[in-house]
Amino acid sequence: MAPTLLRWISVAIVALLFAGDGAASHDYRDALQKSILFFEGQRSGRLPPDQRIRWRRDSALNDGASGGVDLTGGYYDAGDNVKFGFPMAFTATLLSWSIIDFGRNMGGELGNALRAVKWATDYLLKTTAHDGVIYVQVGDPSSDHSCWERPEDMDTLRTAYKIDAGNPGSDVAGETAAALAAASIVFRSRNPAYSALLLNRAIKVFEFADRHRGAYSASLSFAVCPFYCDVNGYQDELLWAAAWLHKASERREYREYIVQNEVILRAGDTINEFGWDNKHAGINVLLSKEVLMGRAEDLRSFQINADGFICSLLPGNSHPTQVQYSPGGLMFKAGGSNMQHVTSLSFLMLAYSNYLSHANHRVPCGGQTPATPSLLKTLARRQVDYILGDNPMGMSYMVGYGARYPRRIHHRGSSLPSVAAHPWRIGCKDGTRYYLSQNPNPNVLVGAVVGGPNCSDAFPDSRPFFQESEPTTYINAPLVGLLAYFSAHS
Ligand SMILES: *[C@@H]1O[C@H](CO)[C@@H](O)[C@H](O)[C@H]1NC(C)=O
Repeated sequence: MAPTLLRWISVAIVALLFAGDGAASHDYRDALQKSILFFEGQRSGRLPPDQRIRWRRDSALNDGASGGVDLTGGYYDAGDNVKFGFPMAFTATLLSWSIIDFGRNMGGELGNALRAVKWATDYLLKTTAHDGVIYVQVGDPSSDHSCWERPEDMDTLRTAYKIDAGNPGSDVAGETAAALAAASIVFRSRNPAYSALLLNRAIKVFEFADRHRGAYSASLSFAVCPFYCDVNGYQDELLWAAAWLHKASERREYREYIVQNEVILRAGDTINEFGWDNKHAGINVLLSKEVLMGRAEDLRSFQINADGFICSLLPGNSHPTQVQYSPGGLMFKAGGSNMQHVTSLSFLMLAYSNYLSHANHRVPCGGQTPATPSLLKTLARRQVDYILGDNPMGMSYMVGYGARYPRRIHHRGSSLPSVAAHPWRIGCKDGTRYYLSQNPNPNVLVGAVVGGPNCSDAFPDSRPFFQESEPTTYINAPLVGLLAYFSAHS
């Protein structure tokens, strides 16, 4: 058989298999509600009266005080108590994109989704309040990671790290500008004054990011590496920020910036990566919408790359940068916390399928199976269904969803007794016995999606296996959009 035909058949079989196992349909609306609720468990700062995750209390109320600034609020990124600005900004950008594209599918959950964005952007406004300085992190990671402590008890070093003209960080500043710009679209009609504040700040932050170019890990490697080091370079964040500012402001200058800087800033473009470090696939998909609508011929090269990206996701395709799948059908990339790739790449598939639909377009994929909007939706839904329980372990990777889900997630607040249950302080090393315990976590962090199974679909459900058992905000942010869509179309 000709290899092309063989590949076509394998893709067709995979697509049929994926379409056929939708028999036990999931409660996407329940999962959507939970995926948003999770963000309340990650809140830092003073909690509001309508806080729904009640086992959490106020924490880190002096963040920034030693430097004379207010840096309270924001999100803990994962199972520790550090506020890492780079992934937090990416989380806010993706939550905003979820609402921009799928907010109309959220029903009664829209208000909670808006509050989840605002919790991040209120904080990002504080970190960018002073000209020429951006606070990019609060909390010394080595101090934090050497303790197993509740955020409410924290006595670790809450150092505030910043960038400025002499110590630039176009990566974190660019992502912050992208987040503020994306959120300004979310709030444009819902809260015009807040939206204008976000957009004006985004413009200033982008100017700063572009004028003072460099990677924040050059000056802050001791604090941000190896956790959220900028491995991939800052160039993609400059393009990404410009793309969001173009969408948010509709000013010509951002489109011109993209066209003029395209060649330099796309150096090292890896078409099928998308996450807190690498924005390339996201840039390509975001800008393609306008190309597909016939409004931006000068951005055509981004659509060509987006098409290549989409083809690389099709199972059984022979693209040189083909994304791998586990035997059970989960997208898999090496490096830990795999589920971040699953949700972000699936989000792009779904977003692109909508852009293709509106333009009545499909991606030919070099004569192999064409990527039609409906195939892309089927594949994205298959990834979501895997997360929710259609997998070889027969378990949901979302805490609190379904009958079987991870019980021992790598998360300090969830695994230690709550302040209500145990009002006395639990010191740095006193938490170790809870970390090592075989007991399930006492506080169920509803909606948290963990790093997920390894490449053979196995999952240990054990706190020390953090790559598998730790949730992060940037796993959930794109999932919110996916669940919104499938809750309205299933
Ligand atoms: C995946 O995890 C299972 C169970 O923990 C283990 O037996 C297996 O060796 C792991 N596979 C790989 C490739 O690491």
